[in-house]
Amino acid sequence: MKRGSFVSEYKIWGGTPLRGHVAVSGAKNGALPLLFASLIAGGACTFYRVPHIGDVHLACALLERMGAEVVWLDRDVVRVNAASTDPAGIDGSLTSRLRASSYLLGACLGRFGFCPSLETGGCDFGCRPLDCHYAMFRALGAVGEREVSAPNGLHAAHHTFSRVSVGATINALLTAARIDGISVFENCAVETHVSDLARFLTVLGARIDGLGTPRLKVHGTPRLGGGSYIVSPDDIEAGTYLLATAATGGDVILTEVSPRPLAATLQVLEQMGCDVVQTETTIRLVRHAPLQGVSVTTAPSPGFPTDLHPPLTAALCLADGRSTIFERVWENRFRYTEELRRMGATLAVSGDTLTITPTPLHPAAVTATDLRGGAALLVAALTISGCTTITGRELLERGYEFLPKKLRGLGAVVI
Ligand code: EPU
Repeated sequence: MKRGSFVSEYKIWGGTPLRGHVAVSGAKNGALPLLFASLIAGGACTFYRVPHIGDVHLACALLERMGAEVVWLDRDVVRVNAASTDPAGIDGSLTSRLRASSYLLGACLGRFGFCPSLETGGCDFGCRPLDCHYAMFRALGAVGEREVSAPNGLHAAHHTFSRVSVGATINALLTAARIDGISVFENCAVETHVSDLARFLTVLGARIDGLGTPRLKVHGTPRLGGGSYIVSPDDIEAGTYLLATAATGGDVILTEVSPRPLAATLQVLEQMGCDVVQTETTIRLVRHAPLQGVSVTTAPSPGFPTDLHPPLTAALCLADGRSTIFERVWENRFRYTEELRRMGATLAVSGDTLTITPTPLHPAAVTATDLRGGAALLVAALTISGCTTITGRELLERGYEFLPKKLRGLGAVVI
């Protein structure tokens, strides 16, 4: 391979237990809403612990095309000044590559009273509707099915989401924070990054009560200022390293992590036979005995996160006994199973249910179908002696910072 040439694959020589320490990065799904929140701020915003991942770079590029000034002040510190931005600058070729571009709807509606129709992208899990977002915008006085505008102005409202949606909750906060008055939202998502956005909006001058509960009360104001915020640790990155450690029979300490949001994941890892020791900011996972099969149902927070279902599947391929995963968040998150089968996995999908029958895995040339599906292939590859090739490296690097470097730090052979 020529030095400096574009590499769209990983080569992994697995079979060695992961051992050592790894620092968890700032959360992808935490950084993205914060970056878009800079659009509704009344001054410059500085974010710390921002991960260098594809989705963050796309979000920064989108903001720049709209006229924002985006400056990396340090390796993981970015300052955004969105004083002179214009929704006319929204670049459809970028929004179509990023699911979080849907946050432009809430932010632009709050700031400009208008957002053009967007083609949003992200992982392909079948239908990814925005009906809950639009119903909420309508409750706040907006009109439109795709393009949203507020010809008669926006107003505070009381709205109950018809289902729990992370994205719709984030958009509600982004719009309502700029509306004078008190808006109340029921059946909200309670993920860490929702509370982080709420805290940041409070820094800017709004007030939000009910953090961490399904009922959020937003005291909005059109006069928001600027501010700064530290992105929380990435629970999904942390969970992926824990599952890779479990799968390889290793002994790893995660640092700069927050164990509490990982409670459901840690409980499953313990049921699988792993030893877990936590402090305020570290998690050590050790596996001495064979993994046990488990039955897991994905759910919005505080349940087992859907984004860890694919890497969990890979670890369970090696368990003693059958496992079952009930996928209850996304309609179609099983595309990656076809690729795991190429590595020898015995997987049966029926409706929203996946049954995993343990079988030895073998090296293969496989392709990442989406970000977390790619993580499943990676976890599987780390358990296999011999060389596995995963094509679609850029999909994994949309969400995992410094992936090969971090894995090499734990003793894996990855290029
Ligand atoms: N839904 C609707 N209507 C809506 C919105 C959502 O029916 O208007 C449905 C979805 O189709 C899905 C469920 O509700 O079945 C949950 O969707 P949600 O809106 O909560 O997901 P999201 O905001 O689009 C975020 C993460 C995803 C993560 C989900 C669930 C970001 C940028 N994305 O997506 O992360 O899977 O929440 O936790 O925060 C990933 O990081 O790999 C990823 C896919």
